[in-house]
This record gives sequence, C-alpha cells and structure tokens, in this order.
Amino acid sequence: MTGFPAHRPRRLRSSPAMRRLVAETSVEPRQLVLPMFVAEGLTEPRPISSMPGVVQHSRESARHAVREAAALGLGGVMLFGVPEHKDPTGSGALDPDGILNVAIADAREEVGDDLLVMSDLCLDEFTDHGHCGVLDDAGRVDNDATLELYARMGVAQARAGAHLVGPSGMMDGQVAAVRSALDAESHQDVAILAYAAKYASAFYGPFREAVDSSLQGDRRTYQQDPANRREALREALLDVQEGADIAMVKPAMGYLDLLPLVRDHVTVPVAAYQVSGEYAMVEAAAERGWIDRDRAIAESITSIRRAGADIVLTYWAAELVEQLLI
Ligand code: PBG
Repeated sequence: MTGFPAHRPRRLRSSPAMRRLVAETSVEPRQLVLPMFVAEGLTEPRPISSMPGVVQHSRESARHAVREAAALGLGGVMLFGVPEHKDPTGSGALDPDGILNVAIADAREEVGDDLLVMSDLCLDEFTDHGHCGVLDDAGRVDNDATLELYARMGVAQARAGAHLVGPSGMMDGQVAAVRSALDAESHQDVAILAYAAKYASAFYGPFREAVDSSLQGDRRTYQQDPANRREALREALLDVQEGADIAMVKPAMGYLDLLPLVRDHVTVPVAAYQVSGEYAMVEAAAERGWIDRDRAIAESITSIRRAGADIVLTYWAAELVEQLLI
C-alpha cells in the first residue's frame, strides 16, 4: 500500500447533512401529479385489489381527494372516469353528464385555479370493446374517425373546466386534432399534456381493473413496441410540432432511457407516468416484507426525476408529500 487515495468521493457521503447539501436531484410536491379514478354510481370509494391503497372514487370522495391534493401543494390531479355504461363509440366521453366530465366540473368547483385539474382524453374507459378508438368494419381501430371524437371529447373536457387535457390514445395526429378543436372554441388556454411515447406495456395490468376495462386482446397497433427507442423521439417531436405543451413518456421505470433522450430534444417540459404495474410491484413486495416500502417509493420517484422528468405522475403523489418521504 503506497500513499493514500488522492480522491475520496465518500467524503461527500459522510453524513446526512453532507448528503443533503450535495444531492443532485430533488422531488418537490409541485412536480407530482396524482392520477385518480372516479366511478359513476358509487356512494363510497371502492378499493382496487391490484392497487392496494388506490380506490375508485365516488364523486364525493373525489372532491375530498382533490381538495387534499391542493392543500398538499401537488402539481395537479389527472382524472380518469369509470362509466356504468359503455358503447361502441364511447359516447359517455362526450356527454357533459358523463362521469369524467362531471368529475372535472366537481374538481374545478372544489379547487378553482389553486390546483391544475387534468383529464385523460381517451375512449378506452367508455367503449364496450375497450379500445382507445372506434373500430372500422374490419374491427381495426380507425385512426381518423377516432380523431373526430377526441376533438369533441377535448372540447367537452374544456367546457367542464379542465385546465389541461391528456390525449393518451396514441392515434396519429391526435394532438393537432385536439388543439385545433380547442382553439376553435376559444379554449386557447387549455393545455395539452401529450402521451407522446406510450408503450404497449404489461405494466398497465392493474389499471385495467381500476377502470373496469373490457379490452380483449392488446393495443399493439397503436401503442409503441417496447423494443423501440428512436421511435419515442419521433413521436415526441411530432407531438410538440402538433402543439403539445408537455410531452410524456409512459411507463416510467422500464423506459428511463427515453427521458434524457426526449429531455434533450424538446424544449417543452417532460413528464413521466409511473404506471399501475410499477405501483403494484412495490406494494406487493413490501406487503411480503421483501422490500422497504417507503424507501423504494422515494427511490423510484427520485430515479425518474434524475433521468430527466420534470413532472412525475404517480399514485403515491399525495402520500409522498404527506409523509414527507421526499
Ligand atoms: C388509456 C390509459 C391507460 C393508462 C393510462 N391511460 C391504459 C392503457 O393504455 O392500456 C395506464 C395507466 C396505468 O397503468 O397506471 N386511457
């Protein structure tokens, strides 16, 4: 052994105070968005078994959760509707009395402009076949016919009071279609959070229970192939060109490599969606005592921020802030 190490990176890890000083990444409440499910006809919240701790809200309990999100200083809530009745064209999505639109209006009534009210803009919760768009005679998802419905759905959500709409169906041209419909109705201030790079992922499994999905088969003709990286950038650039205000990558943890890629090539904020399966995996392992739940949650969200996400959608958003896990 000759001499001493010239460089000692451990010095900066020597105490909690030192580590706090030099931490490169932080997670702030304002960067977190809480996805929420609001189900038609419920009088009280109904637990989702594959997502312990997450519920299908009644309109009343959703109001409460939205107020709480505002009090916690979260960046926003992303609302999903779970209708009682579905049909081939997902007409409940356009109906001003449809569950998602009334939930948006309820939320705005609760929080005004204190919290951003965001809404999922997709037909899958409303169609009886469970696809994100309408089907043609051959049973394929009809891109352009779907765009017309997305445009009308975006307007319905803006009328209900959404500050921001999130087209998540991966139809080509969806951002442009929604943007021009919003603008034509003087909703220039309603922003678009584009699910730019959304993959056909097994990690959406628990979400299917959360929204009582009726999907048979899969979404591989419209959501991206997990094998593809360049394509994510292509999708993100197209969405920004079409008018996206924020570009999102989804899921988050299996797709962390896409975050710096997108972050480096677009000038809009980048979001990542930590999806239901990511949530369920940590909860299930923690339940068995196989993992330290609180640390795993904080670490997973820090990783997503570190990789390049400005904004993180996570089912732990409220808890993270409440328990100051961050
Ligand atoms: C589609 C949509 C899905 C999710 C969000 N929006 C499901 C899908 O594409 O199959 C998944 C969210 C999650 O798993 O947490 N409207």
